[in-house]
Amino acid sequence: MDGEPSARPDPTAPPGPRAVLVTGSSRGIGRAIALAFAGEGACVAINYVENRAAAEAVADEARSLGAAASAVFQADVSQVAQAQELVERTVVAFGGIDVLVNNAGVSVTREPFLDMREESWDRVLGVDLKGAVFCAQGAARHMVGRRRGWIINISSTSGISYSRWQGVHYHGAKAAINHATLAMAIELGPYNVNVNAIVPGFTAGYRTEEHFRYPERREAALSQIPLGRIAEPDDIAAAAVFLASPGAWNITGQLIVINGGAVAYIRDYVFPDEGLHRPRSSEGPARGEDVSGGLT
Ligand SMILES: NC(=O)c1ccc[n+]([C@@H]2O[C@H](COP(=O)([O-])OP(=O)(O)OC[C@H]3O[C@@H](n4cnc5c(N)ncnc54)[C@H](OP(=O)(O)O)[C@@H]3O)[C@@H](O)[C@H]2O)c1
Repeated sequence: MDGEPSARPDPTAPPGPRAVLVTGSSRGIGRAIALAFAGEGACVAINYVENRAAAEAVADEARSLGAAASAVFQADVSQVAQAQELVERTVVAFGGIDVLVNNAGVSVTREPFLDMREESWDRVLGVDLKGAVFCAQGAARHMVGRRRGWIINISSTSGISYSRWQGVHYHGAKAAINHATLAMAIELGPYNVNVNAIVPGFTAGYRTEEHFRYPERREAALSQIPLGRIAEPDDIAAAAVFLASPGAWNITGQLIVINGGAVAYIRDYVFPDEGLHRPRSSEGPARGEDVSGGLT
């Protein structure tokens, strides 16, 4: 063991201002996570690659919600030099980095494996896996010295099960970040750095809305979710804030799945009459019917 065991934090104590970097936080889940930490009084760094105006709007909103400070940084995290510079700029702006949330992600939907292009593979693996890993490495190099830090990777249920709406590249990237989370947690645990992944299923946002432009898809997806609801970005954000709180001090190397309990996808598919799901349509899927809701 390289580090001293840390003292047990008071789980009821407020965390105090912390330096938080959320990659890909100009919209969607990343935006919600940044604003949730802002509401805790943290210093939040907003990262974007193309949409500067949206990122600046998030930074303004963060300050109005109580952030101690906010900053906006452009960086394409798939480029290792930019990923590590992003971390360094956060450290300079806030005097350190306590929490890194690797949220930036892209997918190339509905690209069949037989047609999959090298360009798509490189793009998806570059952002969703390489970007996350090298941001984590950059942040961890600061965290180990202070014996304090939290790294949270935003994965996907495509990393633990199959979604017909996503390609082999996205499945591979998300499965890999899940296992990289475990390996990082083991290597960084002795330095009091916690590493976990949040694994969302369908989460409201422009990508999901595009997917659900056909009402029957929404019906089919909801029919496979025991809680019968699509997650909101705030649901993911609440879990991120918890994972970086004193109450979660002994949680590391874990995958926190947030998908309304939709773990019975195959069972529903094969035995639609026996599953625990509550069909949302009046009749529900018939035996053997293609309930192509998929999971993200
Ligand atoms: N939405 C879902 O249903 C769902 C389900 C499971 C998992 N997830 C995961 O959750 C994360 C967020 O998803 P989302 O739906 O909220 O995404 P989104 O709305 O598409 O937003 C993506 C964010 O990432 C940024 N980004 C894209 N490429 C980047 C790059 N190379 N470097 C830095 N930032 C980059 C974008 O910035 P610009 O605006 O500047 O382009 C944007 O802020 C992803 O990792 C995704 O795989 C989402």
